[in-house]
Amino acid sequence: MRTAESVTRAAVLGSGTMGHGIAQALAMAGIRTRVYDVQEAALAEARARVRANLEQGVEKGKVSAGARDAALAALEFTTDLARATDGAEVVIEAVPEKLELKRTLFAELGRLPSEVLLATNTSSLSITKIAAAAAHQERVVGMHFFNPVHIMKLVEVVRAEHSARPAVELALALAVRLGKDPIEVADAPGFASSRLGIAIGLEAIRMLEAGVAAPADIDKAMTLGYGFPMGPLRLTDLVGLDVRLSIAEYLAQELGTRFTPPQLLRDKVARGELGKKSGHGFYEWT
Ligand SMILES: NC(=O)c1ccc[n+]([C@@H]2O[C@H](COP(=O)([O-])OP(=O)(O)OC[C@H]3O[C@@H](n4cnc5c(N)ncnc54)[C@H](O)[C@@H]3O)[C@@H](O)[C@H]2O)c1
Repeated sequence: MRTAESVTRAAVLGSGTMGHGIAQALAMAGIRTRVYDVQEAALAEARARVRANLEQGVEKGKVSAGARDAALAALEFTTDLARATDGAEVVIEAVPEKLELKRTLFAELGRLPSEVLLATNTSSLSITKIAAAAAHQERVVGMHFFNPVHIMKLVEVVRAEHSARPAVELALALAVRLGKDPIEVADAPGFASSRLGIAIGLEAIRMLEAGVAAPADIDKAMTLGYGFPMGPLRLTDLVGLDVRLSIAEYLAQELGTRFTPPQLLRDKVARGELGKKSGHGFYEWT
């Protein structure tokens, strides 16, 4: 498998929240990137979001005008999967979190030359199950980016059951080339980040149920006491209570009852208190 430095062409599949950011990071690293989506409108939005991110970077003095122009010139947007992947040395998939959808796509991607690195940005699905749909599954890994991609430094590189060492090494080195700080994780439910984040989030909700402290005080315990940039309840409000509930249900099923969602979380989701996006969560948002 090639080195990260030698990568010149990539494809990103899915141009939504994550896809546009991953494409931007690749383009900023000088990699010509084709972005594929099934919806023209999603591609147009992705292009506009990348441009806006880069403009903001220029305004803040973090991106030069030349780097902005070069990144925009390195991007192409298409609804043609064959065109997107033609000549790509790396493909990163960021379509919706549905196993069958991803497996269908990876079955297609299996036709690409065996040295092409195939990565999925799934935040919870089994990489091993996704990889099994592709020919030469040893070149399939997880590359789990964080939102917003152009700001967040972490990438979890996930080693599936049959991932070859060179594929994992390439993904780690590529993440570094994109300016990220990767970690390597086995293909275990919730990887490292969601598993720990959800554990703390659920315990904070149980503490609230038990009347241990008010939301702001539970959050302060972590921000002031442990140096977390944000408390677990506030973070749950930002991510969405419904999103966290579904991750907790999945982890409970895979890892056991310690991830069983607290009743308070279920009740709030049932009442439509989903956090910032609905205006109510553990805090009021106006
Ligand atoms: N949003 C996050 O914070 C976050 C963080 C880390 C990982 N992820 C993961 O990244 C992936 C994408 O999430 P997102 O939030 O960017 O989703 P999104 O809904 O914002 O974007 C998905 C895009 O995929 C497109 N799409 C749908 N079917 C497609 C297909 N068959 N081929 C190509 N494109 C298709 C949609 O039109 C849409 O533009 C998911 O697996 C998700 O779990 C999300």
